[in-house]
Amino acid sequence: MKQKLSQILFSQGFGTRRLCAGLVWHGEVIVNGEVVEEPDTPFETEGLRFTVNGQEWPVFDKALVLLNKPAGYECSQKPKHHPSVLSLLPAPLRERGVQPIGRLDEDTTGLLLLTDDGTLIHKLTSPKHHVPKVYEARCKHPLTAEMIERLKTGVELREPEGKPGSEVTHAEGAEIVDETLLRLTLIEGKYHQVKRMVAAVGNRVESLHRPQFGALTIPADLKPGEWRWVNSPAEVWGE
Ligand code: URA
Repeated sequence: MKQKLSQILFSQGFGTRRLCAGLVWHGEVIVNGEVVEEPDTPFETEGLRFTVNGQEWPVFDKALVLLNKPAGYECSQKPKHHPSVLSLLPAPLRERGVQPIGRLDEDTTGLLLLTDDGTLIHKLTSPKHHVPKVYEARCKHPLTAEMIERLKTGVELREPEGKPGSEVTHAEGAEIVDETLLRLTLIEGKYHQVKRMVAAVGNRVESLHRPQFGALTIPADLKPGEWRWVNSPAEVWGE
């Protein structure tokens, strides 16, 4: 589909229509190696890349990015005690409304996906779709075969303070990596799930890392705090 350049910039989060037209007029937008100064110039959006102020941007109808989350950042839109993970992303991604797909605790590190595609958020967080999330939990006490068995067959989670009742949940996979390192695979994303499951079997999570979400792992050269585009949601399913 062909669109005017200023409209493309607008759809990709570069501010109001007026600001986007201004960027083009001021010669700050390069397409196919050439400065384009007319905001109404049409371009085929499929596979298009443009450069604004020296940074290259691919055009995506919906944004999907992978962040290597460091500790000390909150996934909430309105963080209380620490900066938001959104502060690690460039302004156009925040402007187009990307949100974390599920949450990692402030002190949890690892793979966090963010998107502005509400349908995708639903698909990737709903247990119905069976998308495995892999966690590595460094535990306080040595792990036992009994703990692993209980995690796999089901443990009762006490509700967070203030909520009545309790629920039973199990891990799709649980294995001992070394004496105190547990690898756990979950398809749900309940509040503090790993920490609560580990507590339920009489141990305690000292630090938590998520190396894998679906088929995606953290690229070896992606440092904590850095992000990368995911070209298609199909990559999450390993397609
Ligand atoms: N489970 C937790 O307890 N914390 C996380 O951040 C993710 C899963």
